[in-house]
Amino acid sequence: MCGIFGVITNQDIPIGKIALEGIKRLEYRGYDSVGIVSQHDGKLFIKKDAGKIDEVHKKLKLDDFPGKIAIAHTRWATHGAPTKINSHPHTNCSNNITVVHNGIIENFMTLKEELIQRGHNFKSDTDTEIIPHLIEEKMKEGLDFKDSIIEALKILKGSYGLAILSLYVPDTIIAVRKESPIIIGIEPGVATYCASDFPAFLPLTKTYYILEDCEMAILKAGEVEFFDMNTSEIIEKKSQQIEWSINAAEKGGYKHFMLKEIYEQPEALKRTLKISNEDIKIFAQIILSANDIYITGAGTSLFASLAGKFIISKFLGKYIQAIECSELKGQLTNFLRDNSVIIAVSQSGETIDTIEAIRWAKKAQNLKILSITNAVGSSITRYSDHFIITQAGPEIGVAATKTYSCQVLTLALIALEIAKLRKIEPESEIQNYYKALKSTPQIIENFLSNNINLIRKIVKDLEKHSSYFFLARGISIGTAKEGGLKLKEVACRFIEGYSAASAKHGPIALVRKGYPIVFIAPPDETYVRLIGNLMEFKSRGGKIISIVVESDKKIRVHSDMTIDIPQPADIYHSIFSPITFIPALQLLAYYTAIFHGLDPDKPLNLSKTVTVH
Ligand code: F6R
Repeated sequence: MCGIFGVITNQDIPIGKIALEGIKRLEYRGYDSVGIVSQHDGKLFIKKDAGKIDEVHKKLKLDDFPGKIAIAHTRWATHGAPTKINSHPHTNCSNNITVVHNGIIENFMTLKEELIQRGHNFKSDTDTEIIPHLIEEKMKEGLDFKDSIIEALKILKGSYGLAILSLYVPDTIIAVRKESPIIIGIEPGVATYCASDFPAFLPLTKTYYILEDCEMAILKAGEVEFFDMNTSEIIEKKSQQIEWSINAAEKGGYKHFMLKEIYEQPEALKRTLKISNEDIKIFAQIILSANDIYITGAGTSLFASLAGKFIISKFLGKYIQAIECSELKGQLTNFLRDNSVIIAVSQSGETIDTIEAIRWAKKAQNLKILSITNAVGSSITRYSDHFIITQAGPEIGVAATKTYSCQVLTLALIALEIAKLRKIEPESEIQNYYKALKSTPQIIENFLSNNINLIRKIVKDLEKHSSYFFLARGISIGTAKEGGLKLKEVACRFIEGYSAASAKHGPIALVRKGYPIVFIAPPDETYVRLIGNLMEFKSRGGKIISIVVESDKKIRVHSDMTIDIPQPADIYHSIFSPITFIPALQLLAYYTAIFHGLDPDKPLNLSKTVTVH
């Protein structure tokens, strides 16, 4: 979704270049227009337009701004088309207040009509534009600038992360947050930054503060003060340190972030294996003592949840229901019982539908919210009773890759802790599961070093097919769905992940001679039935590509091509196949995008952090 980056410094540095580089580091969030404003000598300088940052920079020289203070914005269109006029920053009638915004103002239509009646002129179709006008209106009532913002925001319904630059306070950036992330970075005594996410200022400083809901930050060069928006009182905050290395947000020799992040999986998994056992134990104990257990998320996080619910249920001996976050309230109204648990999974920790689901559940019933996220300080952590941070590191590629495997691994660690607590298997058996789980980074590393040519060949073979299926049974249905999602988003191919058993109830009608079907076939309890499904497609002329373990004998025989997943003797276990099989599908998506000339890091219309419903 929208990206915000603000900078205020006392150094003589090219402010446009800093603003441009900062906002470029948020490109991964997805956007369709860009704008920057700076202040110098009592004047505001604004450049903005629709298009990618590089295109707009070519036209408008986005690195060329005067002054020592600037805010930059990338907009992902919601209210109003992606046009120059709708791009941020937006201004008031006197053009002396500029605002950039991430989020949605739900009551903007009514407010806009009222403001028009009071003589305000609007230039855009956006919800954001009402904010500078409302502040202007409050200034007319005689309030100072800070109180005008506070009073104006009280009228708004919806969510916002805002950065405000105004001639009323020329040496200041004001940042405000309600349900849309804003973090503050600081080089004490030198420069202060505000941003929607860490990568924006990661190369500039590692010292940060998190802005909480209904808090305001007043940024001066190298200083920041925080206020409670409800009481106007000063808040004392302690700064924290980002643990990521600076090059975590660089491509590091890879052509795309997506490829880099696929290759980072072994290391990301090794780090995630080291998550504090205390945290895992807390999750395990709460899940064990709960009446009903639900797991929720969106997109890739939902598919990780599908795998996780299988793994946890196996050791828990209770059913876990996976529900898409946007459906959770609809499905559970009147059915949610006390002493239930909702496990929320979200890479960004900011997906508004996931957050809304857990906030609703918490209000509706006395239950526990456990969340798994990759983002320290994200909103989801604030709405949870307990949270675990996966150790994937920053994921810049829009398509989730390493965060998926780390989410599944975290859920698997919880499952094994439950197994230990329940003593349902002999300790030695549980230790074997741990060994198998700990071998997943090595399996992926071996797979990634040996299979690129094969994947590229398959991509070439599938070149003319813009639709095919990933079919699977049991735990692998989540893997199939995640593979289908990757192909859709980065390669723009309608590849569907589907249940192999259900495929004969409709999708099989698509099969003609040479129609490709990819079977995900780990050697688990569904294996024999999956062969049956495979034969149904083969006998109708389907071209069968199977993803199997190295030692597979049967499915290989019936397949036109196979992708082999390494299977270390003794320690392999299919219950962890959602982790070890997914890189094959991620690479298939990546190389299909490359083959078709698409940029896998910038899928059309997509946003990394979805902060609208
Ligand atoms: C797919 C993808 C999205 C996200 C979804 C949820 O590659 O990235 O489908 O998985 O938007 O996002 P989080 O996990 O941040 O809640």
